[in-house]
Amino acid sequence: MTARSLAALALAAGLAGCDAGPGPGEDARANPRDASNAALGAKVYAQNCAACHGVKLEGQPDWRKRLANGRLPAPPHDDSGHTWHHRDDVLFAITKRGLVPPYAPSDYQSDMPAFGGVLSDEGIWAVLAYIKGQWSAQARQIRAEMLAGARRR
Ligand code: HEC
Repeated sequence: MTARSLAALALAAGLAGCDAGPGPGEDARANPRDASNAALGAKVYAQNCAACHGVKLEGQPDWRKRLANGRLPAPPHDDSGHTWHHRDDVLFAITKRGLVPPYAPSDYQSDMPAFGGVLSDEGIWAVLAYIKGQWSAQARQIRAEMLAGARRR
């Protein structure tokens, strides 16, 4: 094996290692590759989130259009929504506390419940691990680049 192919191997291994760990804006507790955590998250999702965000994470119909009461329907958590645009800690905070400042104005009216009194922190990280595991490789790649850019700013 030549020195060059060894270097190429080392580079590939380095990149693979990078892919396995939490990138910028990611939290190890929401690691979709942790199979038992993601499996727990799937249960948490089915019991607590699917009724609004959809059994297949598809969201509610016409989710971009406000309801008669002025509130927004539940957005998808799959590639077609914008959940994947946000950092893991932001998703955690919204799930735990609902859409309150700094993620929404203080008088913001939303149907998204705060799960802090219902789910443990571990349960919330697990459901995020499950949701992240449903994103396509392409969405994960774009997200990684977006979050890396956000960190540099
Ligand atoms: C009663 C319906 C309902 C349930 C149950 C519910 N949500 Fe939501 N969720 C919403 C609505 C509606 C929104 C959009 C709120 C808004 O923008 O005003 C939302 C928004 C969110 C967002 C922000 C998404 C984004 O792209 O900005 C996250 C994250 C989220 N929900 C996570 C969860 C998780 C995780 C669960 C289960 C533990 C859950 N939700 C259960 C209704 C619900």
